[in-house]
Amino acid sequence: MTDKAQDDIGSSGKSVALEARETAEDGRRYSPSAARNKDVLADVIAANMPVAGHILEIASGTGEHGAHFVSRFPSLQWSYTDLDEMSLASQRAWARLAEGAERLHGPLKVDASQDHWGEAENPSTYDGLFCANMIHIAPFAAARGLLTGAGRLLRTGGRLMLYGPFAREGQIAPSNARFSEDLQRRDPDWGVRDLDLDIVPIAEAASLCLFDVIEMPANNLSVIFEKIKK
Ligand SMILES: C[S@@+](CC[C@H](N)C(=O)[O-])C[C@H]1O[C@@H](n2cnc3c(N)ncnc32)[C@H](O)[C@@H]1O
Repeated sequence: MTDKAQDDIGSSGKSVALEARETAEDGRRYSPSAARNKDVLADVIAANMPVAGHILEIASGTGEHGAHFVSRFPSLQWSYTDLDEMSLASQRAWARLAEGAERLHGPLKVDASQDHWGEAENPSTYDGLFCANMIHIAPFAAARGLLTGAGRLLRTGGRLMLYGPFAREGQIAPSNARFSEDLQRRDPDWGVRDLDLDIVPIAEAASLCLFDVIEMPANNLSVIFEKIKK
């Protein structure tokens, strides 16, 4: 289990990720977990997400995922967002320096828990929304806001992809149960959510239909929703 001393502490003084991250001289930050999962996530995107349109990422963190995906998918436009200033600074550096930088937009400051996402608020326009590893490391209001925001901003037929650890119908893998307890020790409002009991009902109320659930390494899931006509 990650030692709290190794957390990545964001601009507010709180942990934004449960891992130590490096910052290069050019301002780009590097996350060990993103280095491990970016290729398998790109494979899921290739099979399940629009790769010739515009994807809005919520909670982009270091910005490595978007940079990796635009280099793999040459017709993809990607917009970075985050709440945390330190993460926004890294995304700014990736949007300047990455291969395919002309297709990396933002970053925009977005707090997923709010019901208006500022400059990112372009209803019914995005082909996809992507959010990795936020909803267990934020109060549940962030998950709720993410799902209602996706319902508001995706075009009909657009897709939302979530990635991270989840419980299913009240069952949780032992490693995820230990992880959730660790998260709740750090902040009682954090914790691993139940896909079927906590997430799907809010998604359905936001016109998002569960499209696919893909098992990923280390007991994580990729979850795909599709925006249906109201
Ligand atoms: C564990 S990091 C994940 C970063 C990146 N998506 C990844 O997988 O490497 C969690 C991110 O969620 C962001 N975050 C937390 N609460 C948020 C909120 N309410 N709205 C938007 N972003 C939030 C943090 O600033 C941080 O960048």
